[in-house]
Amino acid sequence: MKRIIVAIDGFSSCGKSTMAKDLAKSVGYAYVDSGAMYRSVTLYCQRNGLITDGVVDEAALQACIDDIRIEFKFNEEKQRNETYLNGDNVEDEIRTLAVSNQVSIVSSIGFVRRAMVAIQQSYSKDRGIVMDGRDIGTVVFPDAELKIFLTASPEIRAQRRYDELKAKGMEEPFEDILENVKQRDYLDQTRAESPLRKAEDAVELDNGEMTIAEQREWLLNIFAERTK
Ligand code: DC
Repeated sequence: MKRIIVAIDGFSSCGKSTMAKDLAKSVGYAYVDSGAMYRSVTLYCQRNGLITDGVVDEAALQACIDDIRIEFKFNEEKQRNETYLNGDNVEDEIRTLAVSNQVSIVSSIGFVRRAMVAIQQSYSKDRGIVMDGRDIGTVVFPDAELKIFLTASPEIRAQRRYDELKAKGMEEPFEDILENVKQRDYLDQTRAESPLRKAEDAVELDNGEMTIAEQREWLLNIFAERTK
C-alpha cells in the first residue's frame, strides 16, 4: 500500500483534528496539528509582551522567530499528542479563548507563515502523514494525494468548542465562543497571506449532521481508495 500525504483543511472547530488524529492512529501515520503551531507563536507573543491592544510588534517578533521552538510529544498517560513551546508543555494553554482571540492576527503575518510552513514541510520526508489546518492542501502540500475540506455551520462549531472547553474545566460563555468562531472565519478567509480556501482537487465534507463514527468511516473509505 503506498504511503501518502493527507491534508485536512477547513473552518475553525470543524472537527478537523478529531478526524485527522483518528485517521493517523488507524493507519499508523504521523499526525501534525498545524493550528497548534500558530497558537504557540501567539502564546509566545503574549508571554513576551509582543502584542499590545491587538497589534503585534512585528519587528521584535521577526528578530526572535527562529528562537521559537515548537515540538510535539506523545503523552502515554493521556494518550494524546502535546505541544511544547521552548520546552514548556503548553497543550492546554494554547486552547484558551485568550489565545484563540489573537491567533488570527499572528497567523496572518507573512514571515510567521513562511517559518511555520517550512517546518511543516520538513515533517513529510517519507510521506505517511496527516496534517490539518487552513492551507495544507493549497500551500504546504499542494501535491498531497488526499485533500479534505471540512465545513459545518458556525453554531454547530461553537457548540463543539464550548463542549470541548467545558470538558477541560475551561468553560466560557457560548455567545463569546460563537463570536470568536465567526470572527476567525472572516479573518481566515479574507487575510492576504494564504487565505482559507478549498483546493480545487479537495473533497468537501459538511460534517454538521454526522457522528464521529460516520466521519471516521467516510474518511477510511476514501483513504483506502487513494492508497490502492
Ligand atoms: O485549527 P485551529 O483553530 O487550532 O487554528 C488556530 C488558528 O491558526 C486559526 O484561527 C487559523 C490559524 N491557522 C492557519 O492560519 N493556518 C493553518 N495551517 C492552521 C491554523
